Amino acid sequence: MKRNNKQIPVHCKGNRYLPFDKLKTFQGTLKEMSEANAGKLKVSILKYGWVAPIFVWNKNEILDGHGRLLVLGELLKEGYAIDDLPIVDIEAKTKKEAAEILLAINSKYQTITGDGLYQFMNEMDLKIEDLSIFELPDIDFKEFEAEFFSEATEAEEEEIPEVPAEPKTIKGDIYILGSHRLLCGDSTNHEDVERLMDGKKANLVITSPPYFNQREYSFWESYEAFLKDMEKVILNIKNIVREPFAICWNTGDSVTDRLDIPADESALFTKAGFLYRDKLAWIKAGAVLSIPRNGHIGMGRYFPALAWEPVLVFTGEKHPEFELSDISEVNGFFKNVWEINQVVGSEQKKIGHTALFPVELARRCFLAYSKKNTICYEPFCGGGTTLMAAEKTGRICYGMELDPGYCDVIVSRYVNLTGGAVVLNNKKVKWEVDG
Ligand SMILES: C[S@@+](CC[C@H](N)C(=O)[O-])C[C@H]1O[C@@H](n2cnc3c(N)ncnc32)[C@H](O)[C@@H]1O
Repeated sequence: MKRNNKQIPVHCKGNRYLPFDKLKTFQGTLKEMSEANAGKLKVSILKYGWVAPIFVWNKNEILDGHGRLLVLGELLKEGYAIDDLPIVDIEAKTKKEAAEILLAINSKYQTITGDGLYQFMNEMDLKIEDLSIFELPDIDFKEFEAEFFSEATEAEEEEIPEVPAEPKTIKGDIYILGSHRLLCGDSTNHEDVERLMDGKKANLVITSPPYFNQREYSFWESYEAFLKDMEKVILNIKNIVREPFAICWNTGDSVTDRLDIPADESALFTKAGFLYRDKLAWIKAGAVLSIPRNGHIGMGRYFPALAWEPVLVFTGEKHPEFELSDISEVNGFFKNVWEINQVVGSEQKKIGHTALFPVELARRCFLAYSKKNTICYEPFCGGGTTLMAAEKTGRICYGMELDPGYCDVIVSRYVNLTGGAVVLNNKKVKWEVDG
């Protein structure tokens, strides 16, 4: 083969050598490779050269190395060159035996654990960036990075309870927690919202709705069905707010589904008659980035790591005022870019909820858009972050959460923070915090 300056070096030996175009596929449709993984493999071949021989049966039928050869084919088309490839011959008497050997070679008997990978990286002096071109299916990279490479967050100041296997809460339960209320109910449902609000109105809404089907707790048949539900939530908000009010709506895109969720939800708010005020950028400090996305950068296509989320702010005609005694605090975040550590993997694991926003985010929303004792409606209470921030800032949270297990977590978190009494369906109950 002709050598050029785009020569891929071969760094291994075989018992013989074959040119690329003499090799024949054997596995058929057995395996497939995503475009993202093909990209990573390409970067790895260009970075390390050809580092392992191809295993073949029956002179030239490939038993192991299909993926690499597929990517090599693309590289050759792009003008790269490589010498004849090192081959290792595998003996098999029949095609069936060869197929079994192929499956044996591809079987995975060991798994990579987060602790194991972290230790290995330390011993081998590997950095988190060094992993970006590898595909390790046992590892959830986002969680791994958050757990082992993120700075501590303020959430650590709290003893966060676990989601119980068998929740005490049942659907329809209503809790009174000091001045706060929590209903295990549905924020798309008008009656549930009325029941939670108990005839009161809210001057603030702080929330983070599901980002379509990105989490284990959400499933909608279609994006349209999801937006219909969000519209119901927004129209229910309309019924329970009174001027002056603000709505702080933390959401995010679904880049994998190519959905601009913030834009679509923003349109629903303006359609409902709310006024668009601001888009705050919550920068997820503490370097919790999506490594798999970074893998694309090396192959000449730019898909940036996801490092911020918008908090959309809507109001009515009036703009709510904050406590003048908080002016120096509010001055501390006068820009529309809020850099706040994300709740990291280990904390999420403890609390069992994978989509918490930090208490500091909700706290700033309270300080910026409300006065003491303001009632804040939280339609997606989750792990109770807004309720915690309300308690810490002297505001009141009326929270709705569909999932009974998360309701238990919210109550336990409240009890841990305040030691206050729990009233369930109008009766004071003794609340044991599990976990
Ligand atoms: C993104 S999480 C909110 C997390 C919350 N901001 C926190 O930090 O604790 C969304 C939550 O909404 C809840 N949820 C989904 N649909 C709901 C509905 N129709 N009514 C009430 N809660 C709902 C889910 O169970 C989930 O806990």
